[in-house]
Amino acid sequence: MLAIFAAALSLLACFPATTLDAWLSVETALASLKIKSNIGTTGGPVDSAAVLASPSTADPDYFYQWIRDSAITYKVIIAQEPAGYNSLVQSWIAEMTKLQHVDNPSGGFDTGGLGEPKHSSTLLPPTFQGDWGRPQADGPALRATAMIQYCQKYLKTDGSSKTYISDTIWPIVKADLHYVATYWKSQSFDLWEEVKGTHFFTMMVQRRALIEGIQFAKDNNDNSSASIFTTIAAEMEDSLYSFWSSSKGYIIATQNSSRSGLDCGTLLGSVHGNGRTGYGLFQPSDEKVLVTLQAFVDSFKHLYNINANANGIACGRYPEDVYDGISKSRGNPWYLCTTIVAESLYTANFEFTKAKSVNVTAANVKFFQQFFDKAEPGRSYSSDSQEFKHIVDGISNYADTFLDVVRQFSARNGSLSEEFDRNTGEPRGARDLTWSYAALISAKMARDGMVLP
Ligand code: NOJ
Ligand code: NOJ
Repeated sequence: MLAIFAAALSLLACFPATTLDAWLSVETALASLKIKSNIGTTGGPVDSAAVLASPSTADPDYFYQWIRDSAITYKVIIAQEPAGYNSLVQSWIAEMTKLQHVDNPSGGFDTGGLGEPKHSSTLLPPTFQGDWGRPQADGPALRATAMIQYCQKYLKTDGSSKTYISDTIWPIVKADLHYVATYWKSQSFDLWEEVKGTHFFTMMVQRRALIEGIQFAKDNNDNSSASIFTTIAAEMEDSLYSFWSSSKGYIIATQNSSRSGLDCGTLLGSVHGNGRTGYGLFQPSDEKVLVTLQAFVDSFKHLYNINANANGIACGRYPEDVYDGISKSRGNPWYLCTTIVAESLYTANFEFTKAKSVNVTAANVKFFQQFFDKAEPGRSYSSDSQEFKHIVDGISNYADTFLDVVRQFSARNGSLSEEFDRNTGEPRGARDLTWSYAALISAKMARDGMVLP
């Protein structure tokens, strides 16, 4: 493995200022290796399949497994199917069975403990006991989705895995989904671990997990769970509409918050709440998501000095952010918040192509006019028209500018930390953030038109 690592690095050194395509293929290969070295069993520092958020143990100490980060990372590993992924994913599944039963400051197995956001890297009790923004109710939902995604792939290749699914995976997924069904109306901390409330990202990923859980429950002969998931997913759909603010003209991240509400969690919620299948609500091609994306991006244009000379617009978590990766001083752009804009746009194109048309409305006309100035509200451009081609090519070039920002501000050796400096573009925050690498791979897959299960 080290040899491949060295080869990837030397390739990178040959292409210091290359095209986006060439950079992406080298950088995503490097990202896969970096992810593996942040995971226990594959030669990393921890004897398990735990995904460390980052190898950094001080300023900041990210040497923990966050359920959110690890589920998002495993989703990418499963989608990629790298060599040895079956045994790695199954070790993680075995560890999650144990972890779900470890009492922690959020509670026990069926008393809220599944909402505990981060755990010690050894996964042994006691888990992390310090003060933290807990619970965080997105983790169980993301984990359930990752596991269902794994079953869908696994079942295809091996029918004999049925008992493994019913005896090992279904109990974990069932517990996670019942956690969601029980607590979804209670306030929890947002994905940035700062605000207690009701959040768009959290509810979008919860709804997706429940929808996917309906068939999964039926496959495991549990019709009563299936009917609970069906009812609650429908209730969530009604609640999710209320995140649209007609006065602001965009989707807000958290109900009753004093912030603007523009937040990268909304784009993450649209993408992770729909996957490439699309569950019919706030998909990346939805006009409300498109205008929110534009307002979100615009909010960073003049906020970060580096944007004056960037290849595109570097984006952060939300414009009011003051976390610099160590303390609260001044917020910076994040790699994963910049790549999600690209991923959302590529996915929108994927959806337009699938639907065979782009519909221009009074609400989204400004967005489309950036790419085709004659776009008119009320018109539908079918996929065999020149106008359609014009629009999707424009969107795809625009999406590329966000990945080009990541290329421009990645470290020379290809490393991606959590953030990059708003004035100098230098890496900031936790080094080698696993999620930054997973986010880049995921965006590249969307760019290549790959369909995640
Ligand atoms: C650490 C959290 O992980 C981060 O999301 C948050 O912004 C800071 N604490 C706030 O101090
Ligand atoms: C801080 C981020 O705000 C949070 O989303 C993430 O889970 C942790 N860092 C670990 O990467």
